Amino acid sequence: MRKKPDTIFLGVLLIVFICIFSAAAADENSSTGKYRLVWNDDPMTTVTIAWDQLRGNNPVVYYGQKDFGRDWMKYPNSQKPTRIVPNYRGMNNTFAKLKELQPDRAYYFIIRDSESMSRRFWFRTAPARPKPFTFICGGDTKSSGTAHEAGILSNKMVARLRPLFVIFDGDYCSGNGTSAERWQLWLNDWANFTIAKDGRIFPLLPVHGNHEDGDKSVLNKLFNVPYQNKDDENIFYSVSFGHKFFHFIALNSQVNPEGLQRKWLERDLESHKKFKYIFAAYHKPFRPHTGRKPNKDFQYEQWAPLFFKYGLDIALEGDSHMSKITFPVRPSNEPGSSEGFIRDDKNGTMFIGEGSWGATPRPSDDDKPWTLRSGSFNQIKWIQVFPEMNGNPSHIDIRTVITATRNKEGKLVSHIEDVPALSEGREFIVPANIDLYAPPPYGAVITYPFVEKVSRRETY
Ligand SMILES: [Fe+2]
Repeated sequence: MRKKPDTIFLGVLLIVFICIFSAAAADENSSTGKYRLVWNDDPMTTVTIAWDQLRGNNPVVYYGQKDFGRDWMKYPNSQKPTRIVPNYRGMNNTFAKLKELQPDRAYYFIIRDSESMSRRFWFRTAPARPKPFTFICGGDTKSSGTAHEAGILSNKMVARLRPLFVIFDGDYCSGNGTSAERWQLWLNDWANFTIAKDGRIFPLLPVHGNHEDGDKSVLNKLFNVPYQNKDDENIFYSVSFGHKFFHFIALNSQVNPEGLQRKWLERDLESHKKFKYIFAAYHKPFRPHTGRKPNKDFQYEQWAPLFFKYGLDIALEGDSHMSKITFPVRPSNEPGSSEGFIRDDKNGTMFIGEGSWGATPRPSDDDKPWTLRSGSFNQIKWIQVFPEMNGNPSHIDIRTVITATRNKEGKLVSHIEDVPALSEGREFIVPANIDLYAPPPYGAVITYPFVEKVSRRETY
């Protein structure tokens, strides 16, 4: 007997329902969770996959360059955990370091253990030659209220903009960084909202902030972040890629900036001085752009001369909970300087920040003569890096993406709802409806090296 068309339709609908339900159930019932990826070594050939082992045992990451979905037996490579930090902040923090990867490739993976299998994720390795790429940087999230909600909005922008990697510049949770509940919330938010719908997961470069000071080794235990001099409280490190193209330095404003860290910084800058772009991040700004925060003179004395000596291009700062971009500046006490800096478009470092990923914005009420712009809202910095191409000089485009503001009643207003997700391979396209901070005269895009020209395009 022939089936009626509506019976066939209902049958198909039922199958679709079962598929959707079982996929969701597989994720909810998975014995692993809080997935994150970390760059803590050579990002061209290695990556660390980290997760919380909730139940089960003998987890194995199955991976390869071809997407076999959840058909784990077809993946050509496998990796058991390379480090486990059990019962830390209420989680079994499990790390699998993948090595001998090929640069600039997509890798697909699943995590399988005695009880279940994760969904299929994928990531990209860093390129081994100069090549355009994008990344997102920012910091300062909180664990409750509208500040927590705003952080989720910024997380969602990560998934939509599909950066090669993310720099998180410190202050992850409210308090002193020892609350298990708050870290679990942060890591769940990271996995739930920054991973793209197609399973692409974006590697993280974590930086230590003052709200982690209750345990200065926390980033090592939760992200397997490198430390120096055999002391896991010395969380500062660097990574580079692109054949002398891009070097990133994570400093730590919460341990002594002098002595060991200063020496390490000088050595690191000296050995990477031939890189085209050097980018540093640390939590506490030298010169905060909100009046409520004090200057960090000692940190400035230790690091600013080295930044200038070695031509540091851009420094990311956090902590203040507002937005700023400075003109390129160099340390100076000559006439015309202010708070130890003077504008130097040719040889200076551009300072960007200052940490309002989620934390409630503070007033931007402490601009300097060398401040390019500041503002008070939730934001992340979206950076596009271009090598010399087709006769165009290499440069870095910096955009400030507003993710949330508050209305007069203090209610959170999302600025991301109508922003469509970029599709794979179109990471340089500016999506419709994105809210870019674009006050005159320079418009939405601030380019480094900085050239004084007034933008005709102030908004998109
Ligand atoms: Fe802070």
